[in-house]
Amino acid sequence: MALPNMPRTTRCCTGTGRHPMRPLPLIREAQPSELRACASLLAEALVPNGGETSLGKVRRLLMAILVEISLVQRMMIGAFHEGRRSSQNYQLLLVDGNSGPQAVCELQTDGNTMKLSSLAVRASCRRRGLARRLLRRTVRRAKKLRCQAVQLDVYEDNVPATDLYRSVGFRRFGWTPVVNLELEALLGRTCGRWRLNLLSEEMDADSALADAEAAPTLADLGAELSKRLLYQVFLGMVLSSLFQAAFGQG
Ligand SMILES: CC(C)(COP(=O)(O)OP(=O)(O)OC[C@H]1O[C@@H](n2cnc3c(N)ncnc32)[C@H](O)[C@@H]1OP(=O)(O)O)[C@@H](O)C(=O)NCCC(=O)NCCS
Repeated sequence: MALPNMPRTTRCCTGTGRHPMRPLPLIREAQPSELRACASLLAEALVPNGGETSLGKVRRLLMAILVEISLVQRMMIGAFHEGRRSSQNYQLLLVDGNSGPQAVCELQTDGNTMKLSSLAVRASCRRRGLARRLLRRTVRRAKKLRCQAVQLDVYEDNVPATDLYRSVGFRRFGWTPVVNLELEALLGRTCGRWRLNLLSEEMDADSALADAEAAPTLADLGAELSKRLLYQVFLGMVLSSLFQAAFGQG
């Protein structure tokens, strides 16, 4: 008896070889209309335990709004500087998915260095090699733009991310400058500056030393915290005066 026609299995590689049947999703530049979806993916990664409670949902929503505002700003500033719609110096890459992006990565070129400012993969799509593919694409683009290095900041306790960067060839060469630190880092989470040198396998010792950021001291952290606190108080006073001027009884 003839066997029924069996579906043909095509072997589509995913980069890791762990999912032989899954076709490779497309990596492409995000359109302005997709900024909200990218921001919500990044917010999901920044507030990982946010989906369960109402407070968590609000935190995620607020984070998504903040991220979207900063994405729009960076995209517009990049394009504005070059006087065109899309920018050479700024790129928001995404991995296509059926219901929105599966992964997002944000690249900015600053002189000879390409900076990777955000990278996140949807929780349900992790360990499929998507982040590694995005990093390889980043490195190709950096080489095309004749950058000498790709650089990023990552929390030392983010093991998935540090393992990923190490596996692609990045090495920690210093610490994130105190002005770039988020509040939780100022309060004790160490954040390292990592780099993949594109000119030679091992970073030239002298240039690494010249570029390396020193570890922030307690005095640096204290000074930065006080500065931010003063700024918040000042902002609060200005806003409350404006509010009173607009709505106060005359
Ligand atoms: C970090 C992150 C981007 C990795 O994305 P991913 O698509 O799952 O990573 P990949 O599948 O490409 O993994 C590549 C390598 O990274 C390392 N890695 C990834 N996830 C890991 C984990 N949970 N634990 C340890 N190593 C991990 C491994 O070396 C892995 O190689 P292997 O699968 O051959 O062992 C993802 O976990 C994420 O979005 N996290 C939240 C956001 C974040 O922390 N972003 C980085 C900010 S700097």
